[in-house]
Amino acid sequence: MGADQHLVLVGMMGSGKSTVARIVADRLGRRVIDSDAVIEARTGRTVREIFAADGEAAFRALETEVLVDALADPEPAVIAAAGGVVLSPANRDALARSGARVVWLCADPATLASRVRHGVHRPLLDGDPLGTLQRMTSEREALYREVADAIVTVDNRAPVEVAEAVLR
Ligand code: S3P
Repeated sequence: MGADQHLVLVGMMGSGKSTVARIVADRLGRRVIDSDAVIEARTGRTVREIFAADGEAAFRALETEVLVDALADPEPAVIAAAGGVVLSPANRDALARSGARVVWLCADPATLASRVRHGVHRPLLDGDPLGTLQRMTSEREALYREVADAIVTVDNRAPVEVAEAVLR
């Protein structure tokens, strides 16, 4: 990875993007830009509140704004993108044009389900987490693959091992 290149982690909820981003950023001496955290800081509301009050489309617009701003920052960072960031063609295009290195943290839906809690920032998993994660994985797999420069499988690996694979 180039010293002037952003490193972007993409992948499903529960793939470990935020945790791995912190480890990788420590090793590289970079800042972490964590999409959900930036959205919450900017709006003063939780992801759950935004979904409930304004709906998913409004949340996706914020997600795009945060991605575009992060990629435009001249100081190379480690960006933990939100899980849904690949859904929008404009976001995929922004990733491709930015010259960032994009790594997909790829996981089996069963792994994801065992990791995600009914976290405050995951209203989409309120109903049937495993079923939803299976459906979302099949909808998104090709999109993560499309944007990825590298793919790291996270099943049965500790965050530190995943971070090392990301840095390789
Ligand atoms: C989402 C992932 C979540 C959060 C929101 C929607 C998704 O972020 O942005 O609940 O559609 O995959 P994480 O991937 O950080 O959990």
